Amino acid sequence: MDTLLAGTRMRRNRQTDWSRRLVRENALTVDDLIWPIFLVDGEGIRQPVPSMPDVVRLSVDEAVREAERAAKLNIPALALFPYTDPSLRDDTGSEALNANNLTCRALRAIKTEGFDIGLMTDVALDPYTSHGHDGLMDGETILNDETVDQLCRQALVQAEAGSDVIAPSDMMDGRIGAIRQSLDVQGFRGTQIMAYSAKYASAFYGPFRDAVGSSGTLKGDKRTYQMDPANTDEALREAELDITEGADMIMVKPGLPYLDIVRRLKDEFQVPTYAYQVSGEYAMIKAAAANGWLDGDKAMLESLLAFKRAGADGILTYFAPKVAGMLAERS
Ligand code: PBG
Repeated sequence: MDTLLAGTRMRRNRQTDWSRRLVRENALTVDDLIWPIFLVDGEGIRQPVPSMPDVVRLSVDEAVREAERAAKLNIPALALFPYTDPSLRDDTGSEALNANNLTCRALRAIKTEGFDIGLMTDVALDPYTSHGHDGLMDGETILNDETVDQLCRQALVQAEAGSDVIAPSDMMDGRIGAIRQSLDVQGFRGTQIMAYSAKYASAFYGPFRDAVGSSGTLKGDKRTYQMDPANTDEALREAELDITEGADMIMVKPGLPYLDIVRRLKDEFQVPTYAYQVSGEYAMIKAAAANGWLDGDKAMLESLLAFKRAGADGILTYFAPKVAGMLAERS
């Protein structure tokens, strides 16, 4: 049958802006954004991260200022990541348990201001270990259960300092259940958990490791705990375990190269599902834009919309303040 004669013309709905808006299936809003920020010791410091143009490490006072800006832009949440001074790193990552560490000081300082914004903190040992791994080591081996014990204590220290959402990014087995239980026992029943459920051993984390200062120190790779990029069924098993163990939200990471995983998890579980547009994805767009090879703003917006189309309920993105500003101007 001749479809044109039968009357089907897909371009009819695309003729005008109002019509394109009318048939649009997905939209990016400020409510979809979580902004990851980097912390550094000191005062009045905004230290550029060379591999992440326009991203700076912030001292606590500057982080407070940025939190206020983010709250005014209506960004729902911040995710905090510390650059730990090398002198504070050791092979067990003991600084992670210091109730006065950089992350905890930033949590308290931002919380005191009472901004309407959620604070999320990463649970993993890599910013604090001299070997750059997320867990405790015995020779070459990353110890699972011993690490989980330490992660429970790290999560507790963060919850006590005011973290609203504990986000374990370490990929140890059983950590969500253990952390949930220890938070509950200590009276933090309301503290949410966002599990990095499907976190892949990815080359796209490079600039982040520069930002937190673990790239020079990392020995080997993380393939014995982070997932193999070849796998997708395994992501379902990881997510199912995390949900069963008490995760309130799940996450896929990296983002754009793993949109198939986002879609599968959302279809399978119907729980709040997030994607992390990681440092390497950010750096690629910024680098290409800086060379004039693509339109940076358009590529940013298209990449963020793609997460929504794939089923994500929100996106962790270094573009958050920029895109929130643009969305505010449009409305
Ligand atoms: C640490 C952690 C990493 C990221 C978030 N938490 C790096 C890693 O696992 O090596 C990466 C984020 C990014 O690249 O933007 N466990």
